[in-house]
Amino acid sequence: MSKSDKNTSITPPNIFGVCLLYFSLYRKYSDYFIYICKINLNSMLDREDYIYKTNLGKAFCGDSLELIPQLEDNSIDLVMTSPPFALLRKKEYGNKEQNEYVEWLAKFGELIYSKLTENGSLVIDLGGAYRKGTPVRSLYNFKVLIHFCDILGYHLAEEFYWFNPSKLPSPIEWVNKRKIRTKDSVNTVWWFSKSTFPKADVKNVLVPYSDRMKRLIKNPDKYYKAKKRPSGHDIGNSFGNDNSGAIPSNPLQISNSESNFKYMSLAKKIGIKTHPARFPIKLPEFFINFLTDEGDIVLDIFAGSNTTGEACENLGRRWLAFENDISYLSASIFRFLPKEISKEKLEKYYHTVLNNEQIEIETEINLFSQAFKVEEGKQEYKEVN
Ligand SMILES: C[S@@+](CC[C@H](N)C(=O)[O-])C[C@H]1O[C@@H](n2cnc3c(N)ncnc32)[C@H](O)[C@@H]1O
Repeated sequence: MSKSDKNTSITPPNIFGVCLLYFSLYRKYSDYFIYICKINLNSMLDREDYIYKTNLGKAFCGDSLELIPQLEDNSIDLVMTSPPFALLRKKEYGNKEQNEYVEWLAKFGELIYSKLTENGSLVIDLGGAYRKGTPVRSLYNFKVLIHFCDILGYHLAEEFYWFNPSKLPSPIEWVNKRKIRTKDSVNTVWWFSKSTFPKADVKNVLVPYSDRMKRLIKNPDKYYKAKKRPSGHDIGNSFGNDNSGAIPSNPLQISNSESNFKYMSLAKKIGIKTHPARFPIKLPEFFINFLTDEGDIVLDIFAGSNTTGEACENLGRRWLAFENDISYLSASIFRFLPKEISKEKLEKYYHTVLNNEQIEIETEINLFSQAFKVEEGKQEYKEVN
């Protein structure tokens, strides 16, 4: 045996001894070992490299394809998002060609899957589109649906249709000029889930009763008889019960015509362009109420003007916003600032974020009266002075 062989060889008793040593060290320090792993896996809500934060959430600037992998597995209760659509008319923030779109969006869907909690959901709002040069619809949004279910393993929990009555007619060629197509006023909103029974509670999104139903609840005997309908529906006595509201349907009628709200007016105050493709806050609010509880974590991977973050803030959910355009993210802080803020302060906050300097909205100007606190598994709010 050469000198070097002699030095490196480990005899069987040595291997046994080393294993024993490791095993006893692991047993003694396993708690610390697990703790160190947890620190490394800490959720993004604990991270300090955010662009701005409020009491309930943090906004990060970057490509979601790089940010999503940094999330802890099984940590997100809901991803609520609206990606750039596969439109023929290019938006200023750049959208993918229709044929490469499904593959592009699937990369995000694949990364999100392991980050969702077992009963978590992914809700994607997708606008419809025409194929280039023809009055024939693109199937891209349906291809996304099939790909996410067949290839990525999501379940389609339910399909929703967001009907926006205030949508402008387009494309001009088919709708306005030649008048051979109607106004396209519906976006498809796919509700994907990881399991077959994602967390959901319709009781949180009940809608007002119709006048007829109100009359029926007041005087059930006058308006209906408990019996089996020809459709097979067994309308029993409980049909006339007042459940504080009706079960909503899957077409969601929400106008996208908010023009005078805080985000817009503060942007106008300092001459900043607003995000060109925001969804109305009622859309994320519906899904947040429906699919999450207070304190749950909601992520928007294409945050834009951070409508989802504002909805979460209003509803007591924790939030994360990922957006790769710093100017959109900078203007999105207007959502969290007081309406009466001075022009000087507003400019200061906006430019702080724009220059990639961090801002803690709640401590700088103490905007919110509530801060999130989790105590022994319960979610509670405490007043901040
Ligand atoms: C349709 S807009 C979302 C608007 C948003 N729902 C709102 O209400 O303001 C899509 C956004 O995705 C952003 N985006 C596109 N690719 C991205 C990526 N890879 N990572 C992060 N953000 C991205 C765009 O800059 C754009 O602001």
